[in-house]
Amino acid sequence: MGEHKLQWGLKNRLSRITNNGKIIMLAVDHGYFQGPTTGLENPRRTIEPLLPYVDSLMVTRGVLRTSVEPSTDIPIVLRVSGGTSILKELSNEVVTTSMEEAIRLNASAVAVSIFVGADHEKESLDNLAKVVDEGERYGMPVLAVTAVGREMNRDARYLALASRIAAELGAHMVKTYYCEDFYKVVEGCPVPVVIAGGKKIAEKDALQLAYNAIKDGALGVDMGRNIFQSEDPVAMVKALRAVVKEGKSVEEAYSLFTRESGKQIKVVQKVQPGEDLD
Ligand code: 5RP
Repeated sequence: MGEHKLQWGLKNRLSRITNNGKIIMLAVDHGYFQGPTTGLENPRRTIEPLLPYVDSLMVTRGVLRTSVEPSTDIPIVLRVSGGTSILKELSNEVVTTSMEEAIRLNASAVAVSIFVGADHEKESLDNLAKVVDEGERYGMPVLAVTAVGREMNRDARYLALASRIAAELGAHMVKTYYCEDFYKVVEGCPVPVVIAGGKKIAEKDALQLAYNAIKDGALGVDMGRNIFQSEDPVAMVKALRAVVKEGKSVEEAYSLFTRESGKQIKVVQKVQPGEDLD
């Protein structure tokens, strides 16, 4: 049997995630080390209205079981690394969820963080390598997340290093941050790259970030806070779709956001007596 046929399950799962085009993955896994993150205090309330507009959902098993209807037809990217909290050293992760559990939950991919340059770099890379081995065995793609410690520069040199290491260890997709000269990160990484949004910024700036990433070769966005912490998350995800999936400009997408969120600036025209408006 050819390699292609042997990897049918893995490729089938991967195609559910990549959806044959640019993608929007909704990241709602923040609670695994941050607790009830702003905007995600009640995961179900946040997630449900956004599902019709995203291609996949990045989530832990706890939130998946409790806050997503099993009948929902959304590809799941299951976070399987963790075991740390914001109160301690974040790089000290372990694998928290088995491959068997990922299959039971019908995940389409699993996600593991790596911490290149951090105290527990080696252990986190070991987590990734072992999960890739298991993933290959069971036909489960692995998304590597390049977590960036406070002491690291989020520049192309660092992010290209971390992304390339993830791909070399066998990750099927890499999630990293956008940076200046981002095309260098994409060029140096032989598997598809998606970007995290990072801390909440103004909606127009987040749309610009997504636009730039796509222009520089990203497969899509794996965004959390810039969607669910927006003043109107549904309007924001629709605007993101316009940029990522429909090739619209930032201006066009932002005006969609303002229209959808009812934020349009109302121009009050003063009508002089006897004057008509069209
Ligand atoms: C943490 C993660 C988060 O899912 C993530 O950083 C993506 O969300 P955001 O767009 O809020 O940065 O993987 O390691």
